[in-house]
Amino acid sequence: MPTVLVTGANRGLGLEFVQQYAADGWSVIAACRDPGTATELQATAAGAKGKVKVEAVEITDHAAIDAMAARYRGTPIDILINNAGIIGPVRRDIVRQSFGTMDYAEWQKVLQVNLFGPMKVSEAFADHVAASDQKKIATVSSTVGSNTEMKAPVYAYASSKAAVTKVMGLMAETLKPRGIICLTFCPGHVMTDMGGRDANVHRRDSIAGMRKLLAAATMEKSGSFTRYNGETVAF
Ligand SMILES: NC(=O)c1ccc[n+]([C@@H]2O[C@H](COP(=O)([O-])OP(=O)(O)OC[C@H]3O[C@@H](n4cnc5c(N)ncnc54)[C@H](OP(=O)(O)O)[C@@H]3O)[C@@H](O)[C@H]2O)c1
Repeated sequence: MPTVLVTGANRGLGLEFVQQYAADGWSVIAACRDPGTATELQATAAGAKGKVKVEAVEITDHAAIDAMAARYRGTPIDILINNAGIIGPVRRDIVRQSFGTMDYAEWQKVLQVNLFGPMKVSEAFADHVAASDQKKIATVSSTVGSNTEMKAPVYAYASSKAAVTKVMGLMAETLKPRGIICLTFCPGHVMTDMGGRDANVHRRDSIAGMRKLLAAATMEKSGSFTRYNGETVAF
C-alpha cells in the first residue's frame, strides 16, 4: 500500500485526510505539533493496526523537519500533503492584518507557517517522494490567495496563500525532471475550526474531492491550482 505524509494532521482537514487514507489501508505519517493533545488522531492511530504513525513537528522549526526527514530516510512517500496553516488575526482582531494597522509580527508568523512551511517540508521530503511510485506533492492553499476570484483584504493570509500558490507553480517546474507532480488545492469553504460553522462544505466531501484529484493527477496537471470539486481556480 502507498504512503502519505500529512501536516497539521491532528484536526480539521488534516485529520480527515489521515482518516480517509487510513480507512483505505494506506500507510500514513501524521505530523502534528503536539501528539500529546491530539486525542482524535491518536484514537485513529490506535485503530489502524500500526499503519498510522504520529510525528511531532512544529512547522516553523526547520531543524525538526530535517530531523524527521532523516528518520524517514529510505522510506518512499507517494503523496506529501502540506496542509498545516493558520489564518492570522480575525474577527475583532482583523485590524492586525488590515491596511493601516498591520501587525508585521503576525504577518511574519502567517508567512512562516503558510509559505515557508510547505516549502521547507517539500525540500526536506523531495527525495522520499522521488523514490515513491506516485511522486506527488500537494499544498492546501486558498482561493483567498487568488487575485481574480477573491478580494478579501486579509493581507497576511491572502498574501501567504498567493505566495505559496506561486511557489508550488515554481516547484512544479523544478521537480518535473525528477518526475514529481506538484498540485495546489483550494479545499472550498469547509466546516473546521478555521472555516467556521457557516462554511458550506463538509470536510468529508472536501477531502474526498482532493483525494480524487490526487489519484487522477498526471504530470500534465503539475503546477495547477484546483478547487476540491475539480474546478480550476483562476489565479
Ligand atoms: N477551512 C477552510 O474553509 C479553508 C479554506 C481554504 C483553505 N484552507 C486551508 O486548509 C488547511 C487546513 O485548514 P483547516 O480548516 O483544517 O484549519 P484548522 O482546523 O485551523 O487546522 C489547522 C491545522 O494546522 C496546524 N498548524 C497550524 N500551525 C502550525 C504549526 N506552526 N506547526 C504545525 N502545525 C500547525 C494545526 O495544528 P494545531 O492544532 O497544533 O494548531 C491544525 O492541525 C490550511 O492550510 C488552511 O489555510 C482552509
